[in-house]
Amino acid sequence: MKKFIQDFLILQNSKLNAQHFVLELQAPETLPCIEAGQFAEVLVPGNPDVFLRRPFSIHDVDRRKNIIKLYIKIVGKGTASLASSQPGNSLNIIYPLGKGFTLPSHNQVLVVGGGCGIAPLLLLCHQLADVGHQPDIVLGGRTALDLAICDSFAAYGKVHLITEDGSVGEQGLATQHSLLLALPFSYKTIFACGPTPMLKAVDELAARQGADCQVSLENTMACGIGACLCCVVKTTTGNRCVCTDGPVFDTRELAGWYQPIVKCDL
Ligand code: FES
Repeated sequence: MKKFIQDFLILQNSKLNAQHFVLELQAPETLPCIEAGQFAEVLVPGNPDVFLRRPFSIHDVDRRKNIIKLYIKIVGKGTASLASSQPGNSLNIIYPLGKGFTLPSHNQVLVVGGGCGIAPLLLLCHQLADVGHQPDIVLGGRTALDLAICDSFAAYGKVHLITEDGSVGEQGLATQHSLLLALPFSYKTIFACGPTPMLKAVDELAARQGADCQVSLENTMACGIGACLCCVVKTTTGNRCVCTDGPVFDTRELAGWYQPIVKCDL
């Protein structure tokens, strides 16, 4: 799939809370096809300490207006700089990168997201709706702050919220809640993105129930184009780059359960 390097116009910077914000960015020309799960590498302007681009899942797309959205949590210098992005300015972006989710032909779908792993799942639900599917959706976080974006999902399916501190939805872990949903389990495909323990638990659930499971991995990335080997993961067909061969993998491709080969500290 062809990649583009373009200056996007910042239309809006919506602060959800002290930790999370959504950037609404307009492309200079017609958007290419974008699969849910693909990501963008964003050049962070105005901060000489941040020279590497930062990878973000594409959170949603408005094709009529050539707009993409990025849901971002402030975790370091790069994301803190982007949090002060001003409408009217531009951001240089390489996109769409990686391989996204493969949509099923059936409607028995469970979507599970935890923490920042929620980011690619709104576009996934959007694209499932475009083909007539209505998934069950489980979104988990440590606190309500992690789920500030959850209202956007309500248009696409039945949403179940769970937080570790019980500040919104049920109290517990997203994996426990998905296990509750499994009674009776009627899903043929599970899509998931979030912390590794959550992905492992969801994969185990899928294996027990004979369902397909696609996970979007959140390995550390630097170049985003398969050049630095920062993101390599072991698979049944050898070591592969999460940034180019993923970030979405069918869990049957992942060896044992996945171990990053290289741990970069960026
Ligand atoms: Fe550089 Fe994947 S991020 S090879």
